[in-house]
Amino acid sequence: MLAMNYRGPYRIRVSHKPYPKIEHPNDAIVRVTRTCICGSDLHIYHGLVPDTRVGTTFGHEFIGVVEEVGSSVQKLKVGDTVLVPFNIACGQCPFCKQELYGNCHESNPQATAVGGFFGYSHTSGGFDGGQAEYVRVPYADVSPTVIPDWMDHEDAVLCTDVFPTGYQAAEQGGIKTGDTVVVFGAGPVGIMAARCAWFFGAARVIVIDRVEYRLEKAKEFAFAETYNFESIGDPVLFIKKITDWYGADVCIDAVGCEAAGAPLHWITGKLLLMQAGSPTALHWAINSVKKGGIVSVIGVYGPPANLVPIGSLMNKGITLRANQAAVKRLLPTLFNHIQQGHIRPRDLITHRIPLEEISDAYHIFSAKLDNCIKTVLIPPSANA
Ligand SMILES: NC(=O)c1ccc[n+]([C@@H]2O[C@H](COP(=O)([O-])OP(=O)(O)OC[C@H]3O[C@@H](n4cnc5c(N)ncnc54)[C@H](O)[C@@H]3O)[C@@H](O)[C@H]2O)c1
Ligand SMILES: [Zn+2]
Ligand SMILES: [Zn+2]
Repeated sequence: MLAMNYRGPYRIRVSHKPYPKIEHPNDAIVRVTRTCICGSDLHIYHGLVPDTRVGTTFGHEFIGVVEEVGSSVQKLKVGDTVLVPFNIACGQCPFCKQELYGNCHESNPQATAVGGFFGYSHTSGGFDGGQAEYVRVPYADVSPTVIPDWMDHEDAVLCTDVFPTGYQAAEQGGIKTGDTVVVFGAGPVGIMAARCAWFFGAARVIVIDRVEYRLEKAKEFAFAETYNFESIGDPVLFIKKITDWYGADVCIDAVGCEAAGAPLHWITGKLLLMQAGSPTALHWAINSVKKGGIVSVIGVYGPPANLVPIGSLMNKGITLRANQAAVKRLLPTLFNHIQQGHIRPRDLITHRIPLEEISDAYHIFSAKLDNCIKTVLIPPSANA
């Protein structure tokens, strides 16, 4: 079968790999019909995630058709069309029992901090991902969800990550009616977080980035007020100035460990690897939220550690909330929003590219070319 094949930082291709096999009675094999590239994939593509092995296949956002099921699988049957959340969750451990599906204790024997994810290095369990024609899905009875008949398949593939992640970014911000919310990052996740902030009662939603076409999309899709951080001077001072000098009620970091905007963070985090990437958006979030406010971190940070302004956090009484999105927990709510016509996640999609052209697809998304926001890859198996 054809699958994305990682050769080293910034070097990927499509090549032939063996078909995945059932390795455990609760596995399923899914024939992939649509799969996306995520901002998280850029961190591994750029070589920032430890133990990303040559030859592995990325991809944690995919939908497809169940081709084979293990002997103990009960909920899924061959022929079902499913969306597969990006987290691999056992459904049984104390964390899964609390619906912390992004923090499963069983699915990733390689680490205690990080749960298992599809296609996200051996640090996240070493599972091959869905940027392929076929993929092995462990714990098939837990997270994979049959796509309802009424749902558009492009909306479904965005329910595997970006919609739940943006929603959780807003939810964990504890947004209350009337709040001013600042979202750092106008990638797909930040734009979605901004859009979802309104569901929780925000009165003002501000999005900060430096890529103009993305700020335009944040206006159009998320009805946000937008600013380019390269033309507002010090972003922290600017946010204070436009919020009566109090600061925002809630700040969301939807950038993560590859933030631009502060050369010192970039040099120590990206070039010298003295910290785990550059935490500039997190600094700005902590410093521009009001006293007693909430900072929601949805952008990804990895091991081992980053320098963060803990003194501001402590003295301002800020609550910091962060996590991987618990996709399965959120699906019923998100399905309802889509069915009621409150949102059409697929409107974020700008590119539909054959899997065979994955190398170009990553380059376009990574370099922010061609007004790219969200890319869907179409494997040949989509037409099987
Ligand atoms: N927690 C989760 O469950 C989860 C799930 C999916 C993605 N993520 C993470 O969310 C983050 C965003 O994902 P994405 O797909 O939108 O990625 P993306 O790379 O497309 O978008 C990131 C955006 O941040 C902007 N940016 C860079 N520095 C900035 C700064 N200092 N201030 C404001 N904006 C800045 C970039 O220009 C870019 O538009 C990534 O770190 C990704 O790994 C987390
Ligand atoms: Zn993702
Ligand atoms: Zn678990």
